Amino acid sequence: MDRRGFLVAGSLGSLGWLGGCGGSDGGGPPMMGPANPPAAVGASLPEGAALRDLARLANTATEPGLFEATLAAAPQRIALGPGLAPEFWSYNGASPGPLIEVAEGSRVRIRFDNRLPGQDSTIHWHGLAIPAGQDGNPMDPVASGASRTYEFTIPEGCAGTYWYHPHPHRVTHEQVFRGLAGLLVVRARADPLSALAERALVVTDLGLDATGAIAANTPMDFLAGREGGHLLVNGAKRPLVAIAPGETQRWRVLNATNARYLRLAIPGNPFTLVGTDGGLVERPVAGLAEILLAPAERVELLVTGRADGTVRETLYALAYDRGAAAMTGMMGPGASVPVALATLEYREGAAVPWVAPEHLREIGELGEPVATQRAVLTRGMGTGMGAMGMGFAINGRSFDAMRTDFASRAGAVELWEIANLTAMDHPMHLHGTQFQVVARERSGRALPLPPRAWKDTVNVAAGETVRFKAVQAMPGRRLLHCHILEHEDAGMMATVDVA
Ligand code: C2O
Ligand code: CU
Ligand code: CU
Repeated sequence: MDRRGFLVAGSLGSLGWLGGCGGSDGGGPPMMGPANPPAAVGASLPEGAALRDLARLANTATEPGLFEATLAAAPQRIALGPGLAPEFWSYNGASPGPLIEVAEGSRVRIRFDNRLPGQDSTIHWHGLAIPAGQDGNPMDPVASGASRTYEFTIPEGCAGTYWYHPHPHRVTHEQVFRGLAGLLVVRARADPLSALAERALVVTDLGLDATGAIAANTPMDFLAGREGGHLLVNGAKRPLVAIAPGETQRWRVLNATNARYLRLAIPGNPFTLVGTDGGLVERPVAGLAEILLAPAERVELLVTGRADGTVRETLYALAYDRGAAAMTGMMGPGASVPVALATLEYREGAAVPWVAPEHLREIGELGEPVATQRAVLTRGMGTGMGAMGMGFAINGRSFDAMRTDFASRAGAVELWEIANLTAMDHPMHLHGTQFQVVARERSGRALPLPPRAWKDTVNVAAGETVRFKAVQAMPGRRLLHCHILEHEDAGMMATVDVA
């Protein structure tokens, strides 16, 4: 099947969007893609335990309006099954890390202890518009054995699903694939969906070697982005999510993998989209057969249990071709194979039918841009990590923290244009703000647009150009980069100086 045609015809991506008609798979079984050789040989993991609730990071503050806690990054063995307890890198002993729940407008003071052996680290608060000096950039490393405190205020009106992860120079990919990532939920003062049962699903990617340890990256992983052998949800393989017939649940899903594209679908049971990276959309979008979640993206979905006697359904990550094989020209991952991410298990109980409100919130149009920023993605000389030294570049350059690549102005509406001239998809992320995608095209032809939404990461598929409007609220040095973490670490990252 032609990948381009398929994208346009059938999927809501971060970009690839066809409102409402969705409908590729109907109720049929997922299509099988070409075989994908396992990235790492490893033990099989036990499946089918109940979905774990994420442990919550406790607030130790005594004054109201303050959230205070400590996060320590340290090695930790975590039991996955009989005789299998690989050493992860954890936040407070857990992978994924503890859930941080904060209210809009609250102050946050989190102490970070870097107890990782021999590596600098940081905590980056992905998606939050907070001062650059508190954002855990690679320019502000915390040495192994050292600590620092991050302090910032959660902006008003930013309720949504964010996350935190390390962002040191060159080793972010390793720290994340070893287990460092956690969910951060900002609660609204008034939430139109607060009546619904809520579930958090943090998807991570685990690659084990033959000894049962977390595998090192191969040269292929550095070029294409690492895909491990196991997709985990809240740290376990294919968990059971309980649902009652007719019950509507709100799911927050985070793609915390280095490089996996999650084409989410429950065959025959379409999703209703209610939120993206930066919180709720204006109106629920019902009837979506699938949703593409690129690395670092988040989505809020409504899932309703069927009332027709169904006892079990499967949440899949369907096959998706992100161009990795075309790019590397080697044997390697082409279209991924479908993966069962979770099982919905029906339980007894008659749910009160719930009707989604028509309006969730207002998302203002950003207005006329006063400047344009253009980023062209090409193959280029990497900084030594990619196979054969070839990596990816932004405007022909590899990352240099000392160089200013984009000059931006606080408070100004800017039109960003990102053109992907490579044969591979790149999920592009801008620090410091949430943006609105306003156009996407391929070969001069406009492609369908998603509904107006706040985003901080957008997939720019191979050959596409994406335009978004953004306003940086405060001055400082920000970053634009690919969120395939091997690409970021190999230099597919640029500085944005906000004056
Ligand atoms: Cu989630 Cu600069 O990263
Ligand atoms: Cu970020
Ligand atoms: Cu990339």
